[in-house]
Amino acid sequence: MKGFLDWFVLFLVCSVLGWMLESTYRSILAKKPIDSGVLGGPFIPIYGFGALLVEMVDTVFRYHHLGWKLALCIILCTTLEFLVSLFYEAAFHLRLWDYSKMVLNIHGRVCLLYSLFWGFLGFVYLEILQSQLFWLVDIIQDVPILGVIFICFTVMFVIKVISSFSRLGTLRAIKTTLLNQFDDPDIQHVLHMGFHDNRRILVAFPNLIKSFVDVFLQEVNRRAHLPTGFFPFRKAGSILFHGSPVYDDWEDWLFFLSIEDLLANEIVQSMSNYRHHNGSALEHALVISQASWYLAEAFGLDKDACARGALLHDFFLYDWRDEKHPHHATTHAGIALKNAHRYFNLDEMEKDIILTHMWPLSDTFFKYRESVLVSLVDKVGSTRDIFSMISGVYEDIAK
Ligand SMILES: [Fe+2]
Ligand SMILES: [Fe+2]
Repeated sequence: MKGFLDWFVLFLVCSVLGWMLESTYRSILAKKPIDSGVLGGPFIPIYGFGALLVEMVDTVFRYHHLGWKLALCIILCTTLEFLVSLFYEAAFHLRLWDYSKMVLNIHGRVCLLYSLFWGFLGFVYLEILQSQLFWLVDIIQDVPILGVIFICFTVMFVIKVISSFSRLGTLRAIKTTLLNQFDDPDIQHVLHMGFHDNRRILVAFPNLIKSFVDVFLQEVNRRAHLPTGFFPFRKAGSILFHGSPVYDDWEDWLFFLSIEDLLANEIVQSMSNYRHHNGSALEHALVISQASWYLAEAFGLDKDACARGALLHDFFLYDWRDEKHPHHATTHAGIALKNAHRYFNLDEMEKDIILTHMWPLSDTFFKYRESVLVSLVDKVGSTRDIFSMISGVYEDIAK
């Protein structure tokens, strides 16, 4: 081995041979094809670095006994394996291999069996492969077509290294976001709620029975890739425009968490029996509640109070098209508050949101900005419902 190019060719050739060896070994164990290594084939650089270490030992201790050289190979290659494991953990927070269940391991990064395996590979290299590898290194540099193929492999190697580091960086971001999410007490509450507590809610609202874990992982993935974050205005606009609540992503789950005790109540669920605008009172209340929740987030208001007050703002529990309620528009806010007060412990802000939502038709003025917000959202949502009803009537006439 004369110059840098010889060493680099040896490194790349042994990285490819190492990939072939490890992929074959793991494929036989798994009984299916496995592309081993972080780079996604056909390179596993640790074998290339291992070959360089063995070659260095042989160069420096050329006239020493083979046993001494192999002992040195075992020590150096085991140290290399330890350092590579440490590097991936420090740089990407990833543990690529774990020997913690193996006999005589150090922090799961290296173990006796694999150290002996390195010694065996060193023996194969020195006793069987060395002269053939030298011949291959020479011929690659001497035969032009092999030189071109080698350059292609070098380019491929560089691309693989860059793309795999970028991929590992993304994985690290996902893992960090995931861990942060799980540390959040709200998230733990939702996990608890999603799987154990509120079977009644899940039965009442079948759409909630989406794959909870899938939604969660998609959300984590989205956040990891979109540092610009979440847009509550867009979300609220979409809810009001379509006139229906959404159950699509993580924030939606947090919204349902803020009203979970109200939704679990059978009287609240009975709002689905009363016609209201173009749907049921419960559908309308959920739309106003969810849109208010997102807009409260956008304006830095108390979003839980907005969500809870808005869910009960039309809690009057009758069909207002019934002839028995001629002054519905001016009286139903007071009736809704009376009903809500009867079944739930409300704070002052939630009471105010319910009582004032029909202003200026009612004479009670807002005490809180949250009440103004819900009242406006209710007017927008109701206007949208009325336009939808009118267009429905025109469609019916057109038929
Ligand atoms: Fe109302
Ligand atoms: Fe309303």
